[in-house]
Amino acid sequence: MTRNSDAPLVVGLAGFGTVGGGLVRLLQENADIIKRRVGRDIRLKKVLVRTITKARAAQLPPGATLVTDPRSLTDDPEIDVLVELIGGIDHARDLIDRALDQGKHIVTANKALLAEEGLELFHKAARKKRILRYEASVAGAIPVVEALKASLTGNRIQSLMGILNGTSNYILSEMTSNGMEFDVALQQAQRLGYAEADPSLDIDGHDAAHKLILLIRLAYGVHYPYTALSVRGIRGLSAMDIRLAREFGYRIKLIAQVREALGGEKDQVRLEAGVFPALVYHKYLLARVGGVYNAVRVEANAAGALFFHGRGAGDLPTAGAVLGDLLAVARDERPNNTGFADKVLPKACIVPPEEWRSCYYVRVMVQDAPGVLRDLSGCMAAEGISMAQVIQKSGEGQGVPLVFMTHETSARAMRDALQRTMDSGLLKEPAVYLRVLGGE
Ligand code: NAP
Ligand code: HSE
Repeated sequence: MTRNSDAPLVVGLAGFGTVGGGLVRLLQENADIIKRRVGRDIRLKKVLVRTITKARAAQLPPGATLVTDPRSLTDDPEIDVLVELIGGIDHARDLIDRALDQGKHIVTANKALLAEEGLELFHKAARKKRILRYEASVAGAIPVVEALKASLTGNRIQSLMGILNGTSNYILSEMTSNGMEFDVALQQAQRLGYAEADPSLDIDGHDAAHKLILLIRLAYGVHYPYTALSVRGIRGLSAMDIRLAREFGYRIKLIAQVREALGGEKDQVRLEAGVFPALVYHKYLLARVGGVYNAVRVEANAAGALFFHGRGAGDLPTAGAVLGDLLAVARDERPNNTGFADKVLPKACIVPPEEWRSCYYVRVMVQDAPGVLRDLSGCMAAEGISMAQVIQKSGEGQGVPLVFMTHETSARAMRDALQRTMDSGLLKEPAVYLRVLGGE
């Protein structure tokens, strides 16, 4: 649909919320630099919303109109590219499918859709020879999609670890530094436009997991089914664990990680991937990523370690990434949607989560009595787990917190050892246990 000429690129925008509003603003504020960079204007023609009468944070440019009928956007022959910023799965999928059928290019920030139904969409875009770009869908303003898809393609990616959800990081940072309650910090993140329409996507780890699926696809060229990913969020993390982790010199962060694992069959790369809250040593760069900031640490065989850091959410940071994608479309770039030449991406070979090895932070509530520590370490030793550090805090009533860090062990051994402690009646309540990141 795009023309090899100086004619403006005509855009149909779906969604005029946080990111859509940011894009409408940027298209006007950066019009001069856009023209200089791509040699043509970008003209916003229609904006799809649910409610025409709602107050908007940005003003539409002259000639652009609000519409509520999706077909008026997807079927408009003058529109070259659909920018999908409505979020969610079903409506967004219908919109993109129809727009591809009508020969439009696509720019989207919708990680949920691309993680869960991306394979079909990439396939369709390839068949139709259309561009499908999604820089804003992972880590907001950080250009990590393009880095993996283009700049780092001469490398083999060995591991990738990141803080990919701004809302969770904002909540954890506020709880750690300002002693803010979980719910208050979440409300603030919602007011600032960081949270998803359904914030459980943020705090239960699913948003970070969606982004991780996209990064795995970009880094390894494989399909890692969303349902196969191990996902745990920050809901229920207590101020006590955040405080105790600090005493050991750690910060608790929501981590998304994928790494190549040893021991696969010949020529087969096995991947260990998941989202989980973890203790990060306070001197590591990841521990210092605060507020709504995101970060991605990539370990590549030629480049070594790379660290990307920036705003992971919010109107302008995210809209800037969307606009960068639009400029790529305006330049008539050839589609390079997945970064791999495969027509169909092969399925990932997955390491089961119980085989993952890690050091652990464990907090148990126990009776302050002789022999308790001995019995506890007996349960650990029975599963081959060795304790590295132990502290016991004074407490009242129901028991005292006893905290220990372990040497490296498997998730299975940790689960079985904690089951032993429950079965033996040592614990007043189930243990809290979190992975401790090492060496990063
Ligand atoms: P938002 O503020 O909730 O805005 C959504 C917009 O889409 C609203 O204008 C809404 O219309 C419109 N909309 C929703 N469903 C629609 C439907 N069925 N038909 C027509 N219009 C519909 O969302 P957002 O925060 O901008 O997020 C948009 C997308 O960007 C999501 O995929 C999100 O995951 C992604 N993203 C967001 C951020 C961020 O910082 N917020 C960062 C990266 C990626 P009304 O205004 O009329 O209700
Ligand atoms: N809700 C997401 C976050 C928006 O908090 O990171 C950016 O994708």
